[in-house]
Amino acid sequence: MKSSLRPLAVLLSGLALTAFGADAAANWESQCAKCHGADGKGDTKMGRKLGIADLTDAKVQAKFTDEQAVKSMKEGVKDKDGKLSMKPIEGLSEAEMKALVPVVRAFARK
Ligand code: HEC
Repeated sequence: MKSSLRPLAVLLSGLALTAFGADAAANWESQCAKCHGADGKGDTKMGRKLGIADLTDAKVQAKFTDEQAVKSMKEGVKDKDGKLSMKPIEGLSEAEMKALVPVVRAFARK
């Protein structure tokens, strides 16, 4: 782990996200939370602007498979006008993207 991420991982270890690798939790915070929110609800400035769905809602979670979630991270998500609303995630390996799927899924199980 990059040493710059260590304080964040330590901070997160006290939270429910401990069940996953600290790296996946840290990646959610650094790569995803600015749009989807730390809690997955999408209640962020970017999230409201982009109309992000609430990942704590089981109906929202049912709309995509684990494979699609990884594909969305790799290739991005297009809105109904074909415009990229979620850009492809840069700087994460495929394994790191796969490790984020359980983080995404856990939002709905609370
Ligand atoms: C630039 C803002 C932004 C960032 C950063 C972002 N997303 Fe998204 N994400 C979106 C938008 C917009 C959508 C499409 C609307 C929706 O389904 O909520 C979306 C949809 C999704 C979906 C649903 C996929 C589908 O196929 O329907 C998943 C899963 C997801 N994001 C996971 C992530 C993960 C994991 C990260 C971090 C690696 C991330 N997102 C980072 C904006 C973002």
